[in-house]
Amino acid sequence: MDSRAPIEQFNQLTTKGNIFLAPIAGFTDSPFRRIVRKFTGAPVITELISADGIVRENKKTLDLLKFHDDERPLGIQIFGKIPEIMGEAAAAVNDLKPDFIDLNMGCPAMRVSGSGGSGAALLRDPVRVREITEKTVSKALVPVSAKIRIGWDDGSKNYRDIVKALADGGISFITVHGRTASQRYRGTADWDVIREIAETSSVPIVGNGDISSLGKAMERLNSSRCSGVMIGRCAIGNPWIFAGEKPSTEKMISLIIEHLELMIEFYGARGVILMRKHLVKYIHGIRNASSVRRELVTVTDKEKIIAILQGLIYADEAHQ
Ligand SMILES: Cc1cc2nc3c(=O)[nH]c(=O)nc-3n(C[C@H](O)[C@H](O)[C@H](O)COP(=O)(O)O)c2cc1C
Repeated sequence: MDSRAPIEQFNQLTTKGNIFLAPIAGFTDSPFRRIVRKFTGAPVITELISADGIVRENKKTLDLLKFHDDERPLGIQIFGKIPEIMGEAAAAVNDLKPDFIDLNMGCPAMRVSGSGGSGAALLRDPVRVREITEKTVSKALVPVSAKIRIGWDDGSKNYRDIVKALADGGISFITVHGRTASQRYRGTADWDVIREIAETSSVPIVGNGDISSLGKAMERLNSSRCSGVMIGRCAIGNPWIFAGEKPSTEKMISLIIEHLELMIEFYGARGVILMRKHLVKYIHGIRNASSVRRELVTVTDKEKIIAILQGLIYADEAHQ
C-alpha cells in the first residue's frame, strides 16, 4: 500500500487541474475520455465496473476496464458490497496501473443498489463502508477514492458517518454528489451540505452536482471550500465545457468527427451506432443542426455521417 498521506496523493493527481470529469455509465468511455482530455488535464473516471465481474474475468466487464495512456490521470471505478471481493478486484486492477481506484457508493440504480446491495445502498451501512475501504486500500497500489451521495433518503442524511468511515478506512479523497439516493436526479444538489463536509473532512473533498459551466465550476470550487469539483451530465455533447468557451462550428464538427473515429477504433463497426447518443447531445449545441438530427441517428455509414456533419459547417457559414 502507498503510505503517502491522502492529501499529498490528491495533490499529485490534480497537478493538471481539479475540475474532474464525472463517470456517466454508457457515455464516459475511453473514446469520450480521450476527447475530454483535449480540454483538461484533470482526472477522469471510468463508469462503474462490477468487482464481481472483474474477479470472475467476465469479458464484458474486462472490456470496460480498457483505457488509453492519453487518458491519464484516470481512475477505475468499481462497485460491489463484499469487502474481500472489492479487495480482490482492486488487486486485479493493479496490473492495469490506473492512477487511482474509485469506490462507487452512490449509484441509486436498482440493478446496483437494489438486491445487489452495492452502490448507494452501502450508505445505509457505515461499518461495511469502512470494511470495504480498508480491504481495498490494503490491496491497491494506488490511491483509493470514493464517490458518495449525502445519504439514502431525506430521513437518513448520514454523510458525517459515511465520511468518517471512509476516512478511517484510509480513503484518499471523497467525491460528494449533493443529493440523496432516493432523490436520484430530482431537485438540486445541496451545496451547503457539500461545503459542510469540505470544511470538516480530514481528507480532500470533490463536490459534484448540477455544474453547468466552467464559470459555475470555479464559483463552486471557491464557495464550497472543496479541493476539486466534478462535472457530469453537462459535459456530454459539450466536452469543451472544461475549456470555458465553445469552439467555432468548424472546430466542433472536426472534434465530433474525431470522436466518431475514436469510437470506431475502440468498438469496431458498432462504434457508429454507439456514437448516436453522443451525436444527439452534440447537435443541441450546433446552429441549424436540429434539421439533420433524424438522419444522423439512422444512417449507419461513417462517411455519410461525416458528410452530414460537414454540411453543417456550410449551413453555418451561409447563415453568417
Ligand atoms: C446516465 C448516468 C449515468 C451515471 N453513471 C455513473 C457511474 O457509472 N458512476 C458514478 O459514480 N456516477 C454515475 N452517475 C452520476 C454522475 O457521475 C454524477 O454524480 C451526477 O450526474 C451529478 O453530477 P452532474 O449534475 O454534473 O451530472 C451517472 C449519472 C447519469 C445521469
